[in-house]
Amino acid sequence: ALSVSRAALLPPPGGPGDAAGQALPVENRPFASYGSALHITLPQPPRAGQLLTLLIDYEAGEGPGVCWLAPEQTAGKQKPYMYTQGQAVLNRSFFPCFDTPSVKFTYSATVKVPEGFTAVMSATSWEKQKDNTFVFKMSQPIPSYLVALVVGDIVSADVGPRSRVWAEPCLIEAAKKEYDGVIEEFLVVGEKLFGPYVWGRYDILFMPPSFPFGGMENPCLTFVTPCLLAGDRSLADVIIHEISHSWFGNLVTNATWGEFWLNEGFTMYAQRRISTEVYGLPYTCLEAATGRALLRQHMDATGEDHPLNRLRVVIEPGFCLFLGVNPDDTYNETPYEKGYCFVSYLAHLVGDQSKFDAFLQAYVNRFKFQSITADDTLGFFLEYFPELKEKGVDSIPGFEFDRWLNTPGWPPYLPDLSPGQQLMKPADELAELWAADGLNMEAIESVDIMGWRTYQLVYFLDKVLQKSPLPEGNVERLSKMYPKISKAQNAELRLRWCQIILKNNLEAEYSKVKDFLHSQGKQKYTLPLYRAMWGGSEAARALAMEIFSATAPQLHVNVQNYVKKILGLQVAE
Ligand code: BES
Ligand code: ZN
Repeated sequence: ALSVSRAALLPPPGGPGDAAGQALPVENRPFASYGSALHITLPQPPRAGQLLTLLIDYEAGEGPGVCWLAPEQTAGKQKPYMYTQGQAVLNRSFFPCFDTPSVKFTYSATVKVPEGFTAVMSATSWEKQKDNTFVFKMSQPIPSYLVALVVGDIVSADVGPRSRVWAEPCLIEAAKKEYDGVIEEFLVVGEKLFGPYVWGRYDILFMPPSFPFGGMENPCLTFVTPCLLAGDRSLADVIIHEISHSWFGNLVTNATWGEFWLNEGFTMYAQRRISTEVYGLPYTCLEAATGRALLRQHMDATGEDHPLNRLRVVIEPGFCLFLGVNPDDTYNETPYEKGYCFVSYLAHLVGDQSKFDAFLQAYVNRFKFQSITADDTLGFFLEYFPELKEKGVDSIPGFEFDRWLNTPGWPPYLPDLSPGQQLMKPADELAELWAADGLNMEAIESVDIMGWRTYQLVYFLDKVLQKSPLPEGNVERLSKMYPKISKAQNAELRLRWCQIILKNNLEAEYSKVKDFLHSQGKQKYTLPLYRAMWGGSEAARALAMEIFSATAPQLHVNVQNYVKKILGLQVAE
């Protein structure tokens, strides 16, 4: 997707030589199904430690990392929009780079845009010059997947001393209202727990509806789905998650995508530590329980023994680069929630929260600006707690570190979420009532869900989903009784309600599935619904085809391809 027209070796800075540089031979060689290798031949072999400056002229356009949206695909529907999404291995179609998380670099960029557009990047400094030209500089070393650019009709509003929100003009009011005055607290708690926030600003950019993720932790400027604009701050866990990457992922980075859990598992743990400080333990345990339900669903769908259900995934089999796993395919619940369980297990071994917090801070400090493997992490853990090393905690039968990393399946240890019981129990009981054969309406009506938090409702709906299909007629009654759920605008509730509609084959409410999939393109919402439709009735399958043919052009190409796989439409790899 990149076309390189010329490469040249520049003279050493300040030295003599042609400023255009000495042209070098360039060659494209096969590398993997998801990219090729750029080979540039130097005039002579470099000396170890020698600094070389290469100039590469190239053009980028169509490519999975660079997304061009037509005006209809934006919230305002007036102007086109472009954004880049690098993680995991897409930025190689944006600019030539060592597209591996094991290499870190600083960057600067000059971006010229048409009149009426604004450019923003994942950069520590930002300046608008004349002629619609923006100059960016990222002065901390980052891996290639964290370089990100957006050009669109976007404006910003301050929401804190080092934070602003960016969005299309029609969304900016809602964006400001959602997060005004709350971001700073998350940052301050993060700093207290994990050490200094090194990135300067923390801004949030609300993306067009087809953005495939809940959030993407581009440094200084997190990208998020507009679904977070729930109106009640109920989905702030995503922001806390992306903020947590400021330490876990962006400072201490997994050296290979085969150990993606080092980024996401530690981030889930950090997210829930911040959440515990801000919202308390019961709420955080409730949120973690919904995460555990996602892990259960994922393992049920793929089979526990699936090779991707290991924390350490084999990306390259060694003998053939084309036979390995595409790193983008490792995006599932295992690195997140099984990773969270493993980090929780390490905390459990330590037995004292403040000691474990201190370890996390020391870990960040030890490996900041580096890329590391799980062996580095676990080695440092045992070094930091010599008494645990002495006890041989890495080889307790059933809980061996090696088993955690290399055995697929359900985590051997689950953190205790019972402090969330006060919030979960009423939801458990209500789900039980709705799953019964003859509905006990008196008992049901005695439960008032109006005061429930969004995640309590999510938890309740996951339980209903687990028990589905419910006895004939129950879901219809549930739908009528709780418009707060069946007519919800909150994306997390809409996802669950759509799943329940499909599992109970409630054809009368199919239009809700259609509306939801037309309204946004987040991968974690889209794929489960297509899987449910494809695994359902003839009518559900027809619905899947109908929705996909209407919405495919709006979806991110990766998401498009995953849906095609689910629907049995072949995908050229
Ligand atoms: N870094 C991920 C998103 C990602 C993963 C992009 C893999 C590309 C490849 C981001 O931090 C993330 O995990 N987002 C979650 C948020 C959730 C766990 C709170 C999401 O998008 O759902
Ligand atoms: Zn993440």
